Amino acid sequence: MRNAILPIVATIWALGAAADTKYEIPALQIATGTGSVQAVHRKVCVAGKNIHLSLSVTTPSRVTFPLGGAATRLATGAGVDCRTTVDAAADFRVLAPDGRVLWERKGVRKGVRHEVKADLTGLDSVTLEVSGPAGVMAAWTRPYFFFADGQFPPYDVRHHSPQLGILTPPESPLPRINGPIVYGVRPGHPVLYRVPVTGEKPVKVRMEGLGALEGLENLVFDGEKRILSGSIEKSGEYPITIVAENARGKAEKRFTIKVGDKIALTPPLGWNHWNCFGWKVTAENIRSAADALDKSGLAEHGYSYVNIDDFWQNSHNPAGSAHELRGPERNEDGTVNSNANFPDMKGLAAYIHSKGFKAGLYSSPGPTTCGGCTGSFGYEAQDAKIYAEWGYDYLKHDWCSYGNVAEGTGLERAMKPYRIMGKALRDQNRDIVFSLCQYGKDDVSVWGEKVGAQCWRVVGDIFDMWGRISYAANCLKGVWMNSAPGSWNDADMLCVGCGLWNEFKGSRLAPNEQYTHMSIWALAASPLLIGCDLEKLDDFTMSILRNDEMIDIDQDPLGQAASCIVDGKSHEIWARPLVDGSIAVGLFNKGLSPCEITFDMTAAGMDGAWKVRDVWRQKDEGVARGIYKMNVYGHATHLVRFIPGADAKLRVRDIRDNAYAHPEEVRSLPAVGAKPSAGCKRCDIADT
Ligand code: GLA
Repeated sequence: MRNAILPIVATIWALGAAADTKYEIPALQIATGTGSVQAVHRKVCVAGKNIHLSLSVTTPSRVTFPLGGAATRLATGAGVDCRTTVDAAADFRVLAPDGRVLWERKGVRKGVRHEVKADLTGLDSVTLEVSGPAGVMAAWTRPYFFFADGQFPPYDVRHHSPQLGILTPPESPLPRINGPIVYGVRPGHPVLYRVPVTGEKPVKVRMEGLGALEGLENLVFDGEKRILSGSIEKSGEYPITIVAENARGKAEKRFTIKVGDKIALTPPLGWNHWNCFGWKVTAENIRSAADALDKSGLAEHGYSYVNIDDFWQNSHNPAGSAHELRGPERNEDGTVNSNANFPDMKGLAAYIHSKGFKAGLYSSPGPTTCGGCTGSFGYEAQDAKIYAEWGYDYLKHDWCSYGNVAEGTGLERAMKPYRIMGKALRDQNRDIVFSLCQYGKDDVSVWGEKVGAQCWRVVGDIFDMWGRISYAANCLKGVWMNSAPGSWNDADMLCVGCGLWNEFKGSRLAPNEQYTHMSIWALAASPLLIGCDLEKLDDFTMSILRNDEMIDIDQDPLGQAASCIVDGKSHEIWARPLVDGSIAVGLFNKGLSPCEITFDMTAAGMDGAWKVRDVWRQKDEGVARGIYKMNVYGHATHLVRFIPGADAKLRVRDIRDNAYAHPEEVRSLPAVGAKPSAGCKRCDIADT
């Protein structure tokens, strides 16, 4: 099955240089109406098709959306839900505030879906009306509002709450060694690690313990480039001390190389091309991204993967967007062909490696990728081998067309293709992080590890709209218990910095929302894969991405993702334990207006006095005991680290025990065909 992002995106392409941008239907609370609105984002059945993301209503119904004069048009479908038990027709109308009919269909019965297009230019509001005998279930399917470029809907958080500016302080001149404190590699496989360091230049870096420890003879540290490379034959733990010195001082960090079966011991940090270059990507874009990762200074905060997404292979789209990338799938011996934009996959990986970064690519277990390029179905072993020969370190494997060839039932149907590729990758003589793109379906979080993966998408596609961020946060609530070193729930690429495919001038997320996005991803121990064009980073985006204390939470070696311990209507509180005994907490204001959030530490099990560190501002706030309160702007998240004081005590075994599942209960794999765990089901509302 194709992911629905493509139809959406295809629309954007078709529009070319569109002068407006598309917004999902706003949350129910911003609509005012009479009659019954069953749900927004409900799956409905119209004209024999199940359609997600709909506004489901029962006659008589009038739903009004404020537009503030900024909207340009409405696009939606209209029809009677197949499941309605009332055998009657309904009338659908789109009305301007003065009662003018903008669109109308009378006597609509089950079995038909009408396409609705209405010009909204200059209107203060619009009303969607369905009339007829009482009790007809009707739906406005996949409704979208378009707003003039750069204009935000009136319910946008910018209209209701002050916005946070740059919070991350300027980089300290003192040396700081950033990034994770553990690195996993399999015996005999290549090690490649570039030490991320900040501080006044020049900073000299050395590694103590390399020469002294038995087994590390084949490791070399290039002090100039700060790149550690080589290999280690014997399994075990190898502690090294990294020392960084400059004119202002000295920093030391204990860094452990763990040689064994597990890799990706902390969530991958890096960049992926999809959100900014889409199908138009070229090898040149990838090289420039590697250069920019370096030049921008982001590499000094630990970002190290440079990942190619879809469209490096030849395309099989018969026409349309990527037809110029058409070509033979494979050569005579079955080796997959890269397309004309990627003439030298091996050279590209070598270039990325030369900077101390890791290289990633993308495929599908099905015959074609989501974009219609060559997938790996039937060629898994051969593909894995060539990826390794080329030198790639990461594979994102995207379900997409596999649905057309899948056999079997239940979980086994979903696990099978990944198990095959997982084994093929494992058979190579280099480590290749295996990342499943399964959109949270089929309970992937529970079995991802069993098929040899290190990360798995637990959400549909995320883009720079609030609805997608809050949707992802909801999905994460049900999967935290499956997070562990080498096993990561992936909440999709980051949407700070730019909108999807650079069509839009910046992220459409408000600043507060970008803080929530990053805070929740870090709390959830999600991979942090930057999605924006690294050559066009503004100061705000840079400040968000380079906050080392936020990154430290994401990279905490315990690998225990936060759970949502308070799941309120107006706010949520997320918490996770960290390796040093401190607790990371996010106070997330779900509302549009500022509100005071109270964290009842005692109820959460935190007794005594805890030092509070404001993570985004990198500042101590003081000491909290019993209750912690903070005024949080609309859609923002206040991210803090509670550090235990002398009399502090955690009364519960795990701060996350307040949430709704117990780790051990869910980590064991359910039998094939078993009911998926409660949390993942909510993600089925993804627009796929
Ligand atoms: C799917 C994935 C995206 C991206 C595209 C590429 O939609 O979810 O992340 O990889 O495919 O076509």
